[in-house]
Amino acid sequence: MRSRSGDERLVRAAAQARRNAYAPYSRFRVGAAVLTQDGSVFTGANVENASYGLSHCAERVAIHKAVSEGHRTITTVAVVVVGEEPAMPCGACRQVMAEFGVHRVIVATPSAVRRVRTLKQLLAEPFLPERLLGKRPR
Ligand code: THU
Repeated sequence: MRSRSGDERLVRAAAQARRNAYAPYSRFRVGAAVLTQDGSVFTGANVENASYGLSHCAERVAIHKAVSEGHRTITTVAVVVVGEEPAMPCGACRQVMAEFGVHRVIVATPSAVRRVRTLKQLLAEPFLPERLLGKRPR
């Protein structure tokens, strides 16, 4: 789904998911929504921990929710934060996106800002499963 209305649907789902962010330490609340190859949408929010390093970004929560429900090919990820500027995904999330075939990343604020990037723009030379397996895992 690459239409503007498809993007809006994904951004709205990410904004809704952001409400469940558990971010008492950073107070930086993030929502994400991912679109799978078959058109399903999964959402996530960041989940922090008093042991800070155990915190999970919203994007990875959403992607891993999709994968754990049997959806291994993800086409688009939307990320929503509140503020004037959207937030670009961290390096770890970019690597996880590469693992599951993400092509497009939409970064947005709930109200106005939408920026679209290809994952290639965000992560030029990812480490891919093919390097270990000679092929993509099924
Ligand atoms: N965070 C995300 O969930 N996604 C991003 O793209 C950037 C950072 C979270 C991790 C942590 O809970 C908080 O934002 C501050 O880094």
